[in-house]
Amino acid sequence: MSDFHPVDPAFAATARIRKDDYERMYARSVQDPEGFWKDMSARLDWIVPPTKIKNVSFDPADLYIRWFEDGQLNVSANCLDRHLAKRGDKTAIIFEGDDPGETRSLTYRELHAEVCKFANTLKNLGIAKGDRVVIYLPMIPEAAVAMLACARIGAVHSVVFGGFSPDSLASRIADSGAKLIVTADEGCRGGKKIPLKANVDESLTRPRTNSVETVVVVRRTGGAVQFQSPRDRWYHTLMEGQSAVCEPEAMNAEDPLFTLYTSGSTGQPKGVLHTSGGYLVYTSLTHELAFDLREDDIYWCTADVGWVTGHSYVVYGPLANGSTVVMFDGVPNYPDYSRFWQVVDKHKVTLFYTAPTAIRALMREGEEPVRKTSRKTLRVLGTVGEPINPEAWNWYYRVVGDERCPVVDTWWQTETGGFMITPLPGAIGLKPGSATFPFFGVKPAIVDTDGKPQEGECSGNLVITDSWPGQMRTVYGDHQRFVDTYFKTYPGNYFTGDGARRDADGYYWITGRVDDVINVSGHRIGTAEVESALVAHPKVAEAAVVGCPHDIKGQGIYAFVTLVAGETGSEALSKELIAGVRKEIGPIAAPDYLQWAPSLPKTRSGKIMRRILRKIAENQPDQLGDVSTLADPGVVKNLVEERLIK
Ligand code: WT7
Repeated sequence: MSDFHPVDPAFAATARIRKDDYERMYARSVQDPEGFWKDMSARLDWIVPPTKIKNVSFDPADLYIRWFEDGQLNVSANCLDRHLAKRGDKTAIIFEGDDPGETRSLTYRELHAEVCKFANTLKNLGIAKGDRVVIYLPMIPEAAVAMLACARIGAVHSVVFGGFSPDSLASRIADSGAKLIVTADEGCRGGKKIPLKANVDESLTRPRTNSVETVVVVRRTGGAVQFQSPRDRWYHTLMEGQSAVCEPEAMNAEDPLFTLYTSGSTGQPKGVLHTSGGYLVYTSLTHELAFDLREDDIYWCTADVGWVTGHSYVVYGPLANGSTVVMFDGVPNYPDYSRFWQVVDKHKVTLFYTAPTAIRALMREGEEPVRKTSRKTLRVLGTVGEPINPEAWNWYYRVVGDERCPVVDTWWQTETGGFMITPLPGAIGLKPGSATFPFFGVKPAIVDTDGKPQEGECSGNLVITDSWPGQMRTVYGDHQRFVDTYFKTYPGNYFTGDGARRDADGYYWITGRVDDVINVSGHRIGTAEVESALVAHPKVAEAAVVGCPHDIKGQGIYAFVTLVAGETGSEALSKELIAGVRKEIGPIAAPDYLQWAPSLPKTRSGKIMRRILRKIAENQPDQLGDVSTLADPGVVKNLVEERLIK
């Protein structure tokens, strides 16, 4: 029997959702999705309330996903204007800088004014409904302001994580056709400067980026930047004298809100497109229920706005709920390993949401940096990004939460918009390492490789059999790729790319990706992208990249590299190749291991057998499985002998 933590009756006593509520509401949500989601949609302010609730086909030959399609609303008005009467003076954002001395906060009234001013700024710069805006900023309030200002005028934002390289930024600019970029002079993380504006300058020298007319620069560090006139403009100058009145644009529920690029098993990152009504209903509801949200909560999600967690659970969900959100521009170990808990005490955080990789990194430093802080305000702890190992879960629960706070392990994806499988803390008993049960309206199934649904206790591939309002609607500019990636493997179902197990009590356990995606510190890295960065080097003939175990990151990146004839591998060349990947994609994609491969294991038809490479990288050479289909079985022997993890 695995560890079990029943719901604390004292917690349940005041919880929004208890066990019987969960059971009743879940049953209704899947039996009568129209009725259920019509009721749930009433949590938003609609300009025109929807009457058509769900209109979906998962048929790969004719695929469409529409929710609340005759409704009209404005997302920024739902996150700001509607709170002004009751919550105008309530703190919306508490900003905590990299430097512990830097704190500022904005009330809902102040945030509303900033957003309106920036929305007017965007309009003055010629941005209109439907135009794309790239946001490449640190975790500063201006990031939320820029996102909400886009939402206010109906522009579609595409946030690019500040850790991405100029090349990665350029490909996202090119794909989105952005007219405007919002950036900062520099970012500042763990005491180090990140040259954001210089990266933008470099990205704009790349092909297919000439859609960009304006670069708006927020002064963050005051570091020197090159200005190109008339393209580059200071944020603070543009905002001077702007009116704080800007009528929100009436948007259809299915108008795009944003695109966010994410890696898959093949090709370039895809622009995941989310729309307005369903996304906001779903993110606000999941945020409220999974964290058992109260009016006076101080909520802190440590994710960067460059990832979907930052979109759904730093900005949109929490602000739609009128909650107070901490925005943190630092790292867990700067100035020291107590930083998270110092911030919790400083701002009296009640709900805390982070990633397993951060928990493991802090766990390694022992209990002392945690124990010396109070953390008594904490009420619920959350985790996201990758499967959490029970050891890390238990440490989080015992040391961080003093065995007082339920841990919600939220499984979801960029594509799903919001939580899919997650405990509701007043309703569902916890098992360390399990994301537990589906959220309302979510119908998971576990299928075998032929797509046959498995019953009861089982394991296999995780699919979702019907739509939910927060689901992505398409791949920006490539609807066929959307259909092919998610709906062709198991026709009639959305395929998650994850493996899962269901135990005898019906709990779901996510086991990780089953496709060629590596989950590094909760961030998705496509093996194909790393491979193409490696083969870009003239000395490289071929490369194959797989995941490997990593104590802190969860998964590390393991590259097998074959050099062109006549070249030999060296420490220096290995470093050069790794540096090349950092430069091409960004530091997060840098291989942790690089093994020289005289050749790669291939089938007779020439397909690289990654299954075998994975086992070698996982140091399981006795589990290579069937190697009889290999063109040259001798290849494997060398790779096994020379493996870098033993
Ligand atoms: C992939 C999605 C969702 C925001 C962060 C990552 C893995 C995510 C969990 C969890 C086990 C998880 C899955 C998923 N994942 N949360 N609680 N337990 N695995 O978003 O970059 O779209 O990655 O992250 O493998 O498919 P993403």
